[in-house]
Amino acid sequence: MIHHQLKIAVILGSTRDGRAGPAVSGWILDQVAQRGGMEADLIDLVETPLPTVFPVLCQPPASAEARRQLDAVSPRLAAADAFIVVTPEYNHSFPAVLKNAIDWHATEWHAKPVAFVSYGAFSAGLRAVEQLRLVFAELHAVTIRDSVGFQRIWEQFDADGRAADPAAEAAAKVMLDRLAWWGHTLREAKVFQPYPV
Ligand SMILES: Cc1cc2nc3c(=O)[nH]c(=O)nc-3n(C[C@H](O)[C@H](O)[C@H](O)COP(=O)(O)O)c2cc1C
Repeated sequence: MIHHQLKIAVILGSTRDGRAGPAVSGWILDQVAQRGGMEADLIDLVETPLPTVFPVLCQPPASAEARRQLDAVSPRLAAADAFIVVTPEYNHSFPAVLKNAIDWHATEWHAKPVAFVSYGAFSAGLRAVEQLRLVFAELHAVTIRDSVGFQRIWEQFDADGRAADPAAEAAAKVMLDRLAWWGHTLREAKVFQPYPV
């Protein structure tokens, strides 16, 4: 049976004290809800932190705590048809905590589309996004050309979470429409033919 709602995991990639990230993830969750046709699951790496010590290659984590932490995230990534990664730019790249979350997983990303909402001081996080495209290519994911980026993030949202720049909503619509196209297309393709790995 084909489900019409796409399952979107929205991954919030910053964990810094005083972070701007929740305003950005809240905004894109609103955009997803307004568009319709998608159900979103926010994965906030503050609420569900992941271990930072990796196990022996191809073996599960040794500690029960590490397995518990992964169990709170991995099944949700596996269930997603598509992803939206919300990332700040740190030193011309993306945060280490986001790379850690990516590296803990493999098949969860395969043959699924990934869209980006980025932010930063002066670059709108675009250098973080370009680097993430390289990482996700290695993980058999398809990155969406169109993204949303916010410069000078501290000026971008009002107290109600609305974006100051009306162009942001138009950019989100294009991005979500293309994410949905890839999400539906790849989900249906996998029904007929499993992705070869
Ligand atoms: C360690 C660090 C490095 C940063 N490097 C950059 C950068 O290279 N380019 C940029 O535009 N902003 C940079 N910034 C500004 C952040 O993108 C901005 O503070 C943003 O709010 C960080 O996201 P967060 O508040 O969710 O942690 C940096 C901030 C931090 C904390």
